[in-house]
Amino acid sequence: MKTIGIAILVALLSLAALVGTTMAVVSADVAREAKDDAESATKSAGRAAQTAAPAAEADGLVSYAGQTAENAEELAAQREPFPPELPPIPEGDVVDVELTLKDVVVEIAPGVEYNAWGFEGGAPGPAIHVREGQKVQIALTNDGTIPHSIDFHAARIAPDRAFRDVDVGETITYTFEATDPGVFMYHCGTKPVLAHIANGMYGAIVVEPAEQPLPKADREYVLVSSEWYLTGSGIDEPASYDVTKAHAVIPDWVTWNGYAGQYVTHPLTADPGDTVRFWVVAAGPSLDTDFHVVGTILDRAWVNQDMSKYQSGVQTVGVPAGGGAVFDVRIDEPGLYPVLSHSFASVDMGQVGLLKVGNPKGAGGH
Ligand code: CU
Ligand code: CU
Repeated sequence: MKTIGIAILVALLSLAALVGTTMAVVSADVAREAKDDAESATKSAGRAAQTAAPAAEADGLVSYAGQTAENAEELAAQREPFPPELPPIPEGDVVDVELTLKDVVVEIAPGVEYNAWGFEGGAPGPAIHVREGQKVQIALTNDGTIPHSIDFHAARIAPDRAFRDVDVGETITYTFEATDPGVFMYHCGTKPVLAHIANGMYGAIVVEPAEQPLPKADREYVLVSSEWYLTGSGIDEPASYDVTKAHAVIPDWVTWNGYAGQYVTHPLTADPGDTVRFWVVAAGPSLDTDFHVVGTILDRAWVNQDMSKYQSGVQTVGVPAGGGAVFDVRIDEPGLYPVLSHSFASVDMGQVGLLKVGNPKGAGGH
């Protein structure tokens, strides 16, 4: 696993070599080029380096988009990616989900730190996998400094009871039955919700259909999109939440599973001919995701609804903020297939990964 992954990484993060420059253009180039060979990806890196521009100001709001630490490539390579694999379903009729909220500094791009509020110490919170019909027993402990709560979109339950605020040092518990198959967002619902989601309090729960099982999948990945609004670059000291930029919806970073470009550096993998299933949640807080896989067509798309029927042969599917959708692709030709939001501002700000099918020429590895 070397050359092309690294070449693309270089393209995505070449701004690392340029202090205070922007990623704009770079990752868009990557998205276009990744399906080509290592050579063109390398060229893209060179081009991006030349076209990178300084941080921009919009209506007095300073953008830190694309600003990373100087050794971004190294940092990205060293960092363990957020585990993208769908975890197994726990046995039994009741699934215990115990989450602790903590104030944590998270890394959201190479060398870019952010003062987050995290379920289980990170953002997103852990992917949860249950089967339709199981009972889900939630326990949220608040080890933070202000009240928080937890709202499961998969639940049919009185929110004023279950989703109420829990004070610092206390735990709230409730149980719901997973009656509705699909992939759902969970998040803190404490006011202002915008701030609590923007600070990292979100995750995905997959409710596997039991009555009408899905076609078999060989690989299953969970991708949660979200955007980040920064008070500073986050390089010298952690950035915090910028409410003005959040209201204006001017993010600095947009990510899959909380960290810009992590699956470019550490691609998702599949063998040729595998059915690959993506469980996608758009956490927002405000941006939708226009899900697209470059170089193929979505064979099946269960779109923000129950899992009883799917669309077939779709190029791009909108996943609304607060929504979820499930996608199957089957790819025969080995290669690097970018997985992104086709709203390309989001790609430029980091919402791109790669699906590495087989062992494409120049990609090395096994
Ligand atoms: Cu909260
Ligand atoms: Cu919600």
